[in-house]
Amino acid sequence: MKQKVDLIVYNACQLLTLGPSSRPRRGRAMNELNLIEDGAIAVSGGLITLVGPTAEVLAQAEAEEMIDASNRVVMPGFVDPHTHLVFVSSREDEFEWRIRGATYMEIMAAGGGIMSTVRATRAATLPQLIAQSRARLDRMLAHGTTTAEVKSGYGLDVDSELRILRAIRQLDATHPVDLVPTFLGAHAVPAEFKSRTDEYVELVVNEMLPLAERELREKASPPFFCDVFCEEGAFSVSQSRRILERARELGFGLKIHADEFKALGGTRLAVELGATSADHLVCTPAEEIQALAGSETIAVSLPGTPFGLGQHEYTPARQIIEAGGALALATDLNPGTCYCESMQFIIALACRYMRLTPAEAIVAATLNAAWAIGLGDKVGSLETGKKADILILDIPNYRHLGYHFGVNLVERVIKSGQVVV
Ligand code: NIG
Ligand code: FE
Repeated sequence: MKQKVDLIVYNACQLLTLGPSSRPRRGRAMNELNLIEDGAIAVSGGLITLVGPTAEVLAQAEAEEMIDASNRVVMPGFVDPHTHLVFVSSREDEFEWRIRGATYMEIMAAGGGIMSTVRATRAATLPQLIAQSRARLDRMLAHGTTTAEVKSGYGLDVDSELRILRAIRQLDATHPVDLVPTFLGAHAVPAEFKSRTDEYVELVVNEMLPLAERELREKASPPFFCDVFCEEGAFSVSQSRRILERARELGFGLKIHADEFKALGGTRLAVELGATSADHLVCTPAEEIQALAGSETIAVSLPGTPFGLGQHEYTPARQIIEAGGALALATDLNPGTCYCESMQFIIALACRYMRLTPAEAIVAATLNAAWAIGLGDKVGSLETGKKADILILDIPNYRHLGYHFGVNLVERVIKSGQVVV
């Protein structure tokens, strides 16, 4: 007797399972996709029930809904572990100023940059925040992202930060993409605290963090995170430490924006505090790369950001991988440095400028990305018991991811067992 399931995808020329997924892939293991030729996958109740060669799966299961994936690659949905999805308005004016020679940090010091988006976001209602962000989330899903982390950080006052966290929660509840929230109250020093950064840090620690924790713990299911922009002109290592230590006491997982422009020691801090991830890592010193690679903290690289800024320095990914580190990829989707919803484009950049092989980039954009947001046991690979988040790509083999760029290679997206694209 065959078991009855909801959905079977079969005949995939390559089915990338990415298993086993009990821990992130590190070092050389980042090349392992665990690929099945002529593969199939069966889904029931939104979860994966069988994975294997087509002949074996079809011998064991039958379904009403059968999807023939001949000449297609089947893989797990992308996980985007670093986005600033929730904002209002855009900054194409700054894009043009940069083309004419201004730098990102100069624009920020002059009151533009993050503060410009903060002004627009503070003025927006919850429905406006949700509507503008939902359009971007639709594009993420259309390009294959089925789970994403989303940060606050364009509010920078108590009410506005909480409104953004609420928008993330409502989007999560009403959109197929699963969202993991991160509180980033320390994204920039708001104008009203100019030259009083320590006072703003105390506001974050004493008022925002406990309220954010309550908002997230009561209304969202874990995990949830706290992040800090550790950078000259934003928050120092000691200010970052103050915020992250308090967040850890309150039960947040930890993340940090480190070494995006200047190496301050944020990566070392992330390792010391046992952060789940350290993100950006463009100018990270060699000793800190070694420390990171030897730790459980995942390196999240955002190659869309230097690309978006027209810069030529990228994360030293080869050094991180050769030192035995676990690397993940993310978009950093935001209106300032990287207005990009597509993990496919990020993979294309990572292969060229960071010299990742397509296999390493795929591991970084799925399984390791899932571990970078605490969901490695639920998504990021196609294995029995995991969420049925599945992409069908119109490509003859997986290397076309990265190689063939600037178009959407995703033909269908299955989220929790439902065809949503
Ligand atoms: O990750 N570096 C800080 N935050 C964002 C940029 C945000 C913005 O410019 O609006 C980043 O690059
Ligand atoms: Fe960021």
